[in-house]
Formats: sequence, structure tokens, C-alpha cells
Amino acid sequence: MCTVKSLQQQMTLILKGKVEYPSKEAIRLMMHILDVDEIWIMLHQDEVIANVAKGISLAKKRAENIPLEYITKKVSFYSENFFIDYGALIPRPETELLIDEVVSTMGNLDADINIMEVGVGSGVISIILAKKLKNANIFAVDISDDALKIAQKNIALFGMQDRIKLCKSSLLDGMPKNIDYVVSNPPYIAYDAKLEKNLDYEPKEALFGGDIGCEILLELLEQCFFKHIKHVSCEMGYDQKETVEAFVSGHNGLDVRFYKDLSHHNRGFTITKR
Ligand SMILES: C[S@@+](CC[C@H](N)C(=O)[O-])C[C@H]1O[C@@H](n2cnc3c(N)ncnc32)[C@H](O)[C@@H]1O
Repeated sequence: MCTVKSLQQQMTLILKGKVEYPSKEAIRLMMHILDVDEIWIMLHQDEVIANVAKGISLAKKRAENIPLEYITKKVSFYSENFFIDYGALIPRPETELLIDEVVSTMGNLDADINIMEVGVGSGVISIILAKKLKNANIFAVDISDDALKIAQKNIALFGMQDRIKLCKSSLLDGMPKNIDYVVSNPPYIAYDAKLEKNLDYEPKEALFGGDIGCEILLELLEQCFFKHIKHVSCEMGYDQKETVEAFVSGHNGLDVRFYKDLSHHNRGFTITKR
């Protein structure tokens, strides 16, 4: 026999020294296995439960640095819940700023616009943009079959099949006509960067952008320039501002505006063709 309180204690002990907030993560895992909210756990500490082996096994997985989101198959982004699994990058909070950047560049939220997302991953950017921009049509691509499957599932969960079309393609290769706006959170980490252990579980093609990190980003910007895209908004590494500035000054007729993340690091930009 095991109570909620006792399982919570056992799971916290397994996570101690392995994750930053063992008690909080134990509660998150318990919410997942018992399908309850945090308040229920607080109010039912003496309740006897059956899912003990499952709880212990999930805590052990988490202690091996497997991201919580891959264990629970859930991720919160822009105050919405999405499905997530191995094969797609776990959306990061700073990427919410990329959405705000696109929306503020657009100004008119009712505009008829054709947006292309390059590197759709789990689909969160395209889905939130489609929710915010009611008349936008979105064409989203990725090179990863696994990511496309996860995006497809999220698009169906949000009933967005009519608004977001998915396609397997690299950068702008499969671009349809009349795209006004390209948005991307491309892989931008250098191959030799030292990474935290939990990143070991995320897809390499979602993280690494080349020897210096920004090769895929620069290739995307080059393709957008030659295809006369009006606006391009991208997330970037905090140390890639100078590279983007050099690209803009090396190409005629472009303006750029950068934005910072909540830690005041340069985190992304919008390039607009005059
Ligand atoms: C940093 S992840 C972003 C995922 C998602 N948009 C997000 O923000 O959570 C980059 C994505 O780009 C995809 N990708 C990498 N190279 C690509 C390419 N050449 N063309 C299209 N997508 C690519 C990866 O598979 C990955 O899903």
C-alpha cells in the first residue's frame, strides 16, 4: 500500500541531485500518471494509490536527464498545451517572442497573408500564428518526417488542417507562389558547442546549424533575398547579430530590426525588403 504522500517522497528522493527542482518535478510526474491537477495532489496526500511502479519508473527516467516533456508527452507554449515527443524539438519559452515579433511586424491582424514557416518542428509557431492571424494561410515545412508527424498531430488537435499545410522540404525548395512572409526558428547551434545533458535527447537536426552555427540561417536568408520575400522573422543565437548585420549590409534594399529575449540577449530579427 502506498499513499500519494509516500510516492511523492520516493519520487522526490530519486530526483534529488539530478534535477533542479526535485519536489516540483515529482509533482508534475504524479499529475501525469494520476491524471489529476496539483491541487488534487495537495488535498489527497493520504489517499492510497495503485500507480506506484509507474511513478518510480518515470522518476528514474527523469533522473537520467530525459526531458520531462518527452516523458509526459505534453508541452505548454504560449499558454496552450501541445503534444510533444522524441523527434521534435521541445518548444522553448523564448520562441514565444518570435510570434510577437511577427504579429507586431504585421500590424493588421486581419490581413490576408501567406506565411511560410521553415523548420516547423512540433508546429507550435504555425498554430499560434494561425490562431492570432485569422486570415493567414500557412505553409510549413521541415526535413524531418518525425517532426512533421508530430506537427500533423498538433494541427489536428487544434483543428487547423484548413489553415496550415505541411510539406517535407528543405528551406524554400518547395515554396509555393505568393509567400509574403517567412518565419523560422532554425537550428543555430555550432557543432562543437558544449550542451546541457538533456539536449542529448532532442533531434540533432533541430539543434545544430553547422560549424559556426548560423550556416542554415544564412542559407535561408540568401534564399529569401533571391525569392523577393517581403518580411523574414527568425530566432537566432545571442551571438549571431553581427553575422546577420553583415548579411543585411551585403545585400541591397534590406532593413533589419533585432529583438532581445527576457535576459536582454539578442534573440531574433525581422528583415524587411524595401
Ligand atoms: C530549432 S527547431 C524549431 C522547431 C519549432 N519551429 C520550434 O520553434 O519549436 C528547427 C527545425 O528545423 C528543421 N530543419 C533543419 N534543417 C532544415 C532545413 N534545411 N529545411 C527545413 N527544416 C529544417 C529541424 O528538423 C527542426 O524541426
